[in-house]
Amino acid sequence: MARKKIGLIGGGQIGGVIAQLAATRELGDVVILDVTEGVPQGKALDMWEGMPVFGSDAKITGTNNYADLKGCDAIVITAGVPRKPGMSRDDLLNINIGIMKNVADNLKQHCPDAFVVVVSNPLDVMVYACQKLTGFPANKVCGMAGLLDSARFRAFVAAEIGVSVEDVSAMVLGGHGDSMVPLVDYCTVNGIPITKFLSADTIKAIVDRTKQAGGEVVALLKTGSAFVSPAVCALEMVESYLKDKKRLIACAAKLNGEYGKEGYYIGVPTIIGAGGVEKIVDLELNTADKALFDTSFGHVKEMIDGLKF
Ligand code: LAC
Repeated sequence: MARKKIGLIGGGQIGGVIAQLAATRELGDVVILDVTEGVPQGKALDMWEGMPVFGSDAKITGTNNYADLKGCDAIVITAGVPRKPGMSRDDLLNINIGIMKNVADNLKQHCPDAFVVVVSNPLDVMVYACQKLTGFPANKVCGMAGLLDSARFRAFVAAEIGVSVEDVSAMVLGGHGDSMVPLVDYCTVNGIPITKFLSADTIKAIVDRTKQAGGEVVALLKTGSAFVSPAVCALEMVESYLKDKKRLIACAAKLNGEYGKEGYYIGVPTIIGAGGVEKIVDLELNTADKALFDTSFGHVKEMIDGLKF
């Protein structure tokens, strides 16, 4: 059986980390596509030359030509410009939508059967645009954000309590922006609610930090946004699809009546397996979280309704 093939559209920082991890874990052969001549080829060659050390036979190649993505089982789209300090993810909209149009045209032509994970910001709008412009089934196009926001929430909770991150589970729903909704009710240490360990003030501080976590990294880096944690999370989604793991992962999925909404993408708990986004889990939210989710949805909807294709 041939190895799986993973295509990365965008050969920047996130694409580079995904390529390295996907290849070292032998999840499949990797093709990095970027518009800049030489950069994806150089990155790919550098990584591939290190594979003997990892004992991995995965191939990594770089290209400027979409035809080389033919036959990809999974695609991760990171193409687009990242934030600079002081910018919100929404400020990137116009330029990144233009890039997405070109990406979508090429995906339709060269890999119509791939499972597509969008990472480019503003995430919920970009993933909507990707699905609309490709016309791919909604279960085959999703956005990486909830898993990352949840990972950040877990990291902060674990550090504050002094327990292993492995034992903290958390879920962050809503749009991937300041309006995201970290669900305190569903955050536990091996099933024990975090309210048993942390005061209301501490939890609030963690929730606020989670919402700003992407911006915290941007402010420190000054020349880009987070790339290692987003890469790990995008790859987790790809792996769940390729291996039919059926992980329950928060990601941007197109609602079809769940949470009382439909027709738009937003962060919700999903099950990802060989069928792509196989199920959206419709959680019961408390009144406050439901109101926050609705506000977040309204913000995403407003941006999507303003799109001109
Ligand atoms: C972040 C970017 C990837 O949250 O959206 O860091």
